[in-house]
Amino acid sequence: MRTTPGDSCVFVIFGGTGDLMRKKLLPSLFRMEQSGALSKDCTILGVARDRTLTDAQYRDWANKALGEVGLSPSDPDWCGKCVHYQPVDTSSEEDFRALAARIEALEGKNAGGNRILYLALPPQAFEGTIEALGKAGLNKSKGWTRLVVEKPFGRDLESAQKLNALVHTYFDESQVYRIDHYLGKETVQNLLAFRFGNALFESAWNRDHVKSVQISVAEQTSIGSRAGYYENTGALRDMVQNHLTQLLTLTAMEVPAAFAADSIRFEKVKVLRSVAPIGKDAVVFGQYSPGRVDRKKLPGYLDEPNVAKGSRTETFVAMRLEIQNWRWQGVPFYLRTGKSMPRRSTRIVIDFRKPPVALFRDLGRGPHRNILAINLQPDQGFDLSFEVKSPGDRFSLRTERMQFRYPEESDSGWDGYETLLLEILRGDQTLFVHADETEASWRLYAPLLRRRSAPYLYPAGSWGPEAANKLMEGTGGDWTT
Ligand code: BG6
Repeated sequence: MRTTPGDSCVFVIFGGTGDLMRKKLLPSLFRMEQSGALSKDCTILGVARDRTLTDAQYRDWANKALGEVGLSPSDPDWCGKCVHYQPVDTSSEEDFRALAARIEALEGKNAGGNRILYLALPPQAFEGTIEALGKAGLNKSKGWTRLVVEKPFGRDLESAQKLNALVHTYFDESQVYRIDHYLGKETVQNLLAFRFGNALFESAWNRDHVKSVQISVAEQTSIGSRAGYYENTGALRDMVQNHLTQLLTLTAMEVPAAFAADSIRFEKVKVLRSVAPIGKDAVVFGQYSPGRVDRKKLPGYLDEPNVAKGSRTETFVAMRLEIQNWRWQGVPFYLRTGKSMPRRSTRIVIDFRKPPVALFRDLGRGPHRNILAINLQPDQGFDLSFEVKSPGDRFSLRTERMQFRYPEESDSGWDGYETLLLEILRGDQTLFVHADETEASWRLYAPLLRRRSAPYLYPAGSWGPEAANKLMEGTGGDWTT
């Protein structure tokens, strides 16, 4: 795949020796370079605290990191030309002066003074770094300057508001790109195309035709060795407040006035503001306990390395939401996510209403519902179930599916980060989270954090606690897996 390159710039990546840089950003920048999406004048400046590291050693590290994910530059000196290193301690003004001088030197004549300041850092380091960047005057340059902040953006409403206020002290919102990597996924973007490119579905996308909506992100993986991060986070902060909420708002939003960042982000915020406060009995928290799949034993959350004894951190959340607006009043939205589930499956299921009259009751067949399943991963595509007559002289019905799958050859090998990095280079904020969105989302979920009770246990390798099924009791529906 060849892509028109974005503007030239210097990528300044804080957390330059961290996992995100090693596993995602560096490989993505390299793939972008290979597909022509990076202008020849782009340079990468990794920033970290290590003072002993030299440019040459950092390039060796970078080459090794690319090798680990099966990438090898055809130009063996790609890292030599493109990748640089600068030690910075966030508390040192002098280090930031040296950083400013280094960026200018790298910009030389060609990069046009354009900079991306990417905070690939643990959240507790965001504030200090933003403040130091602002004080060192690195928030502006001859060209454009864009600030990229990874998730999680805040831990609750107060911390998100405080962080937004700090960001806005030094940067204008139009310079800020809050990352949610789900927005870089092809099928998440396709949701917009599907909804607003097809009048057929859009006219049925409302309370008159939809009975309920499910958004489920099941992960087969457990937390593994991530207890250090996960113990302080839990599934609500790690997945619901960001990834599932993005899927919710894109599914439920109104038709935007234009296909433009501001219009789309405005509609997403409106959805969040219309969600009714979530009642205590509309949420279920769970934690995986030891389980077994086939003959294989799976550890419980409490057995994972570095998890505190008796920890109550949730690894599963299910909830029922009500969107109180003209389009969705009375249609329940069910959200669910969990670790250590039977398989990986991210999908949105639109359950349409049954026909009002059971015309085929005498054939032993009650009215059936049409179901639209939007599969995000794996197996990206759509399935629509509908009723057909079974062939033969007897009149009987059966359910069939209409299916669309992205062909494998259309897989560009991009994993979402390339798309997001390219959008940052192009200055398009559509796929990034607005300040108002982060706050509206915390306003909704933060009260749940305060009244979290002990999680229900579910065996690793199962679809979560029984209590999650009870959320749907009386609706005639169940979680589709
Ligand atoms: C991350 C979470 O943001 O998203 C992880 O921190 C989670 O806990 C991951 O596993 C899921 O992303 P994906 O793209 O694999 O669905």
